Amino acid sequence: MTELLNREIHLTSRPDGMPVPENFALVAATLTPEPSDIVVQNLYMSVDPAMRPALSNGQTPLDTAMPGGAIGKVLQSESESFPVGAYVMHRSGFREYHVSDGSDLALITPEDEALTTHLHILGGTGLTAYGGLLVTGELKDGENVFVSAAAGAVGSVACQIAKIRNCRVAGSCGSDAKVDYLLNELGIDYAFNYKTSSISKELHRGLPDGIDVYFENVGGAHLDAACGQMRPLGRIPVCGMISAYNNKGARSEGVTTLSNMIYNRVTMKGFVVYEFNHLRDQFLADMRQWMREGRMKYQETVMEGIENAPAALIGLLHGENTGKMLVRLADG
Ligand SMILES: NC(=O)c1ccc[n+]([C@@H]2O[C@H](COP(=O)([O-])OP(=O)(O)OC[C@H]3O[C@@H](n4cnc5c(N)ncnc54)[C@H](OP(=O)(O)O)[C@@H]3O)[C@@H](O)[C@H]2O)c1
Repeated sequence: MTELLNREIHLTSRPDGMPVPENFALVAATLTPEPSDIVVQNLYMSVDPAMRPALSNGQTPLDTAMPGGAIGKVLQSESESFPVGAYVMHRSGFREYHVSDGSDLALITPEDEALTTHLHILGGTGLTAYGGLLVTGELKDGENVFVSAAAGAVGSVACQIAKIRNCRVAGSCGSDAKVDYLLNELGIDYAFNYKTSSISKELHRGLPDGIDVYFENVGGAHLDAACGQMRPLGRIPVCGMISAYNNKGARSEGVTTLSNMIYNRVTMKGFVVYEFNHLRDQFLADMRQWMREGRMKYQETVMEGIENAPAALIGLLHGENTGKMLVRLADG
């Protein structure tokens, strides 16, 4: 392979508050891979909330292709581990091609599922919900569970795992269409639009006996309302706090109900998905079985083309996705 034109997204300035298209640029770079290089054509890339704090805190460098999860197909390779035509996962999204020595690639061997599921329900997104709820949240059958950002990628998996464990599940989300999705597609017990109602009142209606497990994706007003309604020995696995990610230092709003943690001996514990890597085989077996049984569903919001990757990230922060936000870069 002589030369490749690689269109990639650069962060050109650090956002103050909500990112805007002007913080990003589409740049055309020329790649000249060596014969020994593995050349991957990216097919789909993941768009994740954690990308937002990284734009401000320096983790995402300026004026170079942005990092991010992606799935691609091997176009050139002399490697037996990653032969031509193999599907691989890596962290060099936000570009059309990735040139590698193989050390940053993981092989994907899909069974009967769609390739893209490995970027969400069967990948880190699903494992986040699985480990966060079952390990950190110590979920027990029949408990009362509240999930925020419930119609998103992680939240929708958390809701369904809780239903599989015979829990009563309430979810919050940012639109009436998402309420409909949660009630009528995912079959949870109660859902509300936090933009048009009082979170505290809705939780009293949806979970009148209180909350055993609050799967925390949002922080701020959600945490304030949920913490005050936790039952004795309740658990709050803290997955994310997206309501704070556009704030300086990702600082969240104050919470006024923490004293309920004393009276009801509530545990709040943060977690990061890599803690659960040792569970991956069991996780995949469980998820595939639940998918086959029709008890684990998913939705994708897919934007087209590398040029729309910034819009996908900005859209995610505005709640434009139901389920997983992806960008399709090429046909598989
Ligand atoms: N701990 C870990 O290892 C780990 C791993 C992956 C993800 N996470 C966290 O999990 C959470 C969900 O991630 P995801 O990838 O599944 O994203 P997602 O839920 O698919 O997308 C983000 C959603 O957040 C909601 N949102 C945005 N701004 C909000 C605000 N100010 N208040 C309330 N909701 C808001 C939007 O939905 P609405 O329309 O409902 O507002 C949006 O669709 C995030 O907090 C993320 O950081 C943590």
